[in-house]
Amino acid sequence: MAETLTTPTEDQIREALTSVIDPELKRSVVELGMVRTIAIGAAGAVGVTISLTTGGCPLRNQFIADVNEHVGSVPGVSSVEVAFDVLSDEEKSALRAKLGMPGGLPTGALATIGSILCIGSGKGGVGKSSLTANLAVALANEGKSVGILDADVWGYSIPRMFGLGGQRPPVDATRKIVPLEAHGVKVMSIGFFVEEDSAVVWRGPMLHKALTQFLQDVAWGDLDFLLIDLPPGTGDVSMTLAQLVPQSEFVLVTTPQDTAQKVARRAAEMADKVEIPVAGVIENMAGFVTPEGGRYEIFGRGGGQALADEVDVPLLASVPLTMPLREQADAGEPLVSVNPDDPAAQAVRSAARGLIAMAPVRVQAPAPAPAPIGMSLPMA
Ligand SMILES: Nc1ncnc2c1ncn2[C@@H]1O[C@H](COP(=O)(O)OP(=O)(O)O)[C@@H](O)[C@H]1O
Ligand SMILES: [Mg+2]
Repeated sequence: MAETLTTPTEDQIREALTSVIDPELKRSVVELGMVRTIAIGAAGAVGVTISLTTGGCPLRNQFIADVNEHVGSVPGVSSVEVAFDVLSDEEKSALRAKLGMPGGLPTGALATIGSILCIGSGKGGVGKSSLTANLAVALANEGKSVGILDADVWGYSIPRMFGLGGQRPPVDATRKIVPLEAHGVKVMSIGFFVEEDSAVVWRGPMLHKALTQFLQDVAWGDLDFLLIDLPPGTGDVSMTLAQLVPQSEFVLVTTPQDTAQKVARRAAEMADKVEIPVAGVIENMAGFVTPEGGRYEIFGRGGGQALADEVDVPLLASVPLTMPLREQADAGEPLVSVNPDDPAAQAVRSAARGLIAMAPVRVQAPAPAPAPIGMSLPMA
C-alpha cells in the first residue's frame, strides 16, 4: 500500500533539530539560536542553515551528518540540504552572555580563525618547517594574531625552532590545552606530548584523533592566521585535515629543482582532490647567498614560478639559502625575529605581506543566510 506523503512542518523540523547538539557547547543548535533558516520545499526537500560560532569551525561535517540524520528521519522529508553561515559579533556576545561566558572566555568554542593555511610540500627537507616558523613570526610582526599547529607527527621540529623543546603546555580551567607562546606566536605541537626522539607509530585513527584534539581542544583564541605544518607526503594527514577543516588552504613549498616541483605538483593534485584551494607557492633554497652577498644557484632556478604558473596561483616568495636561517632555527630563535634584513628573512616577510593582502578575499566570509553553500550528504 502506498504511503501517504505528508509535507513536514517547520515545527517538526525544529523539533528534530533539538537533537543536533553542538559538540563543543553541549547544547542543541535550537537552544543555542544557531538555526538561521528552515526552508521546506513542496516535495519534502528541506534546507537548513546553521549559524556557526566560527567560519573556521572544524565541526561542519559533524553538523551536516547530524542534521541529515535527525531531520532526515522526519516523516515526509525527501532530502536534506545543510548550509552554513556565521553568527555576527553581536549574536556571539549574546550567546556568550546566555552561556554565562564573560567576554572572551573561554576562547575555544567561540573563537574565530581568519585563515587556516596548511604548509605542504609532498616531501621532507625542503624547508617547510623553517618557512612555517619564520612566516608565522613575520605575520605576527605585521600585527596579526598567529598560531602554528605542528602536525608533522613524524618529524616535528617547530618546538625546537621556537626554543620550546622539552616544555609541556598547561591546561586551563575549561580543560583546554593552552598553546605555548614564543616570538608572538602561539605554538602547539605533538612534540610537546611525546618523549624526545621516541619513535611514535601513528596509525590512521590515532592520527585523526590527535589532529581533531589539536583543532578542537586547544585554546587558540581568536586568530588571524593558523599555520599548519604538515608532514611530508600527501596521504592520510591531508585527507584528515580536509575533513576537519574543509575551509583551509594550502601553501606549497618547493625547491627550484624539477624533481621537487614534481613532488609539490602531486601535493597540489591531492589538494585539488580533497577540494582544498592552493593559496600560493613559496620557493625555498632558491640560490645560496653568501655573507658577502654573492649568489649561487645551487638547485637551479625557476621551479617555484613554474609550479605557481601550473597551479595558477601566485609565487609568494623565492627564499634563498642563507646560513643564518639554519643557524637561527637551530638556536631556537626564528631568523625573522633576530635579523629581519637577512635576504631569506626579507623574502619570507614579503610572502607574509602577500598572504595578508590576499586574506580579505580569501576570508571564510559568512554566506548571507538565503544563499546556501550547498553542502549535503546523500540520505541514508
Ligand atoms: N632557506 C634556507 N637557508 C638555509 N637553510 C635552510 C633553508 N631552508 C631550510 N634550511 C635548513 O634545511 C633543513 C631542513 O629544513 P626544514 O625546515 O626542517 O625542512 P622540512 O620541514 O621541509 O623537512 C634544516 O636544517 C633547515 O635549517
Ligand atoms: Mg619539517
